[in-house]
This record gives sequence, C-alpha cells and structure tokens, in this order.
Amino acid sequence: PFAAATEDADPQDLAPVIPLRAPRPRRFLMCRPDHFDVTYSINPWMSTEAGVDRDLAIEQWETLRATYEAHGHTVDLLDPVPGLPDMVFAANGSFVRAGRALVARFAHPERTDEAAAHTAWLKSAGIGGGRQAAWVNEGEGDLVAVGDLVLAGTGFRTAAGAHTEVAAYFDAPVVTLQLVDPRYYHLDTALFALDDANIAYHPDAFSPSSRRRLERMFPDAVLVGGDEAAVLGLNAVSDGLHVFVTDQAPGLHVQLKERGYVPVPLDLSELLKAGGGIKCCTLEVRS
Ligand code: ARG
Repeated sequence: PFAAATEDADPQDLAPVIPLRAPRPRRFLMCRPDHFDVTYSINPWMSTEAGVDRDLAIEQWETLRATYEAHGHTVDLLDPVPGLPDMVFAANGSFVRAGRALVARFAHPERTDEAAAHTAWLKSAGIGGGRQAAWVNEGEGDLVAVGDLVLAGTGFRTAAGAHTEVAAYFDAPVVTLQLVDPRYYHLDTALFALDDANIAYHPDAFSPSSRRRLERMFPDAVLVGGDEAAVLGLNAVSDGLHVFVTDQAPGLHVQLKERGYVPVPLDLSELLKAGGGIKCCTLEVRS
C-alpha cells in the first residue's frame, strides 16, 4: 500500500537521514593463536579453570583474518612465540602513527617478552621509531586514534605518565580518560573509533569527569549499555563503513545500522576467555 506522495506529505520527511559512509583500506598486524591458552589470570575475564579449545580459537581467528582481507584490508603476520599465550592480542604490542612506532611496556611480567617480538617485527617491516615506551604502555589497548587525536586510557594498565610520553613522541594531542571498572581494564574494551571523527563507548566504564569529557567532545557518539559492553561489543574495529564486531551484541548492530555503518558480526568467543576480542587481535599499522 504505497500512498501517492502529495506536496505536503513527502514520505521522505519521515525517513531518518542515514549518512553515506566511506571505508578506508587499513593495514593490520595479527598474531595467530598457535600458543593461545589461559594459564594465568591478569584480568577478571580469565579463569585458569575454564579450559580453552585452541583449535577453535585458531578457526575463529582465521575467520577474522579472512574477513578483513575480503573487505580489502591488508593483514601482516607476527610470528607467535611459545610460552606467550596472550600474544594473539597484537593490539597491545605497540602504537603506530604516521609510519612511526612506540613499542609497549607491559604491566604484567607474563606479557613482558611480547615487546621484543613487536620490536623485531616493526624493524623487519621498515616502520620508523620502534623505541620502547619508558612508562607502562599497552599500545592500542589503551591508545585509540580518532583522526589526529589520541584517546588514552589509564587506571588498570597504561600509566598516566605514558600519555605525556605519547603526546611528546608523536607530537599529537592526547586526551586522558580514567577507566573505573576492572572488566574494562583497557580503553579498547569500552570504546572504539567509528571513523576519524566519532566513537562508540560504554559510559559506565569511565570516571564522572572522563564521561563529561567524552560527552563534550563527542556529542553524537553511539552510547552502548551494559549488556552489549559485557560481551566486549566495544572491542570492535571500524574501517569507516564496516564495523567488525562480536555477533553477541545485536542491539549494537542495530545502533550501527541506524547511523549508516555496516556491522560485520564475528564469533571470537574462545578468545573472550582471555578477556580479548576482535580489536585486541588487531593492531593497526598507520602509515
Ligand atoms: N589476556 C590479555 C590481557 O589481560 C587480554 C588483552 C586484551 N587486549 C586488548 N587490547 N584489550 O592482557
């Protein structure tokens, strides 16, 4: 039943305006979970009793990698090292901006040795810089680029002093955000960049003053509630159009569609047992 449009009842007036979004091809670094396991617990998601199915983890990870490539993105590979079960979470190893890298300094001794592997990869890939951070700094886990701006988390892993170091090293504006919920121990578990100008986040993960700061800076942000955040729905990767996001957050998929983004749902449930998701597995190598 399509009613003929008259001049004063234009059906388009009733339709929401959905902006056109353009994807930008990305270069990602990923590390196959060949040695993935939960043998220690350094965040509330990790239970050494749960038991992991490594083959399933590899299968889910391979699907993520193939999905990136199918969407036109480049995936470089970091060689997995035995005895480093969290190395699959490549996002924590460094922060790369304008072809220059700052290597992580992990908060926990269990992950310390991952930094050397990242340093070696960056060198072999011809990425500039490559010095290790002086302060505790878990790379893209706590550093989220939104255009030229860097949003920086602290409270559980990355030290606040690291934010000043990042600002000086990259000559970039850095905005400090205080994380307050141990389940959202890295900034990338509670917030992601939709594109170069907007973000999605879970307000309750932040201190009141950080929340106000986010409200002022991003009045159009996608606000995500507890249910979607608790499946690491915000540990997502966007190319500006496609949003690679957990299949366990249907409400978030709807919100993204309403804004003109295209959710690409993926199952990374096995890696969630270590407190990591899609974004944790993905380091963006920004040229
Ligand atoms: N088990 C890892 C840790 O606690 C998970 C890291 C997740 N990575 C991330 N970018 N949030 O360090």
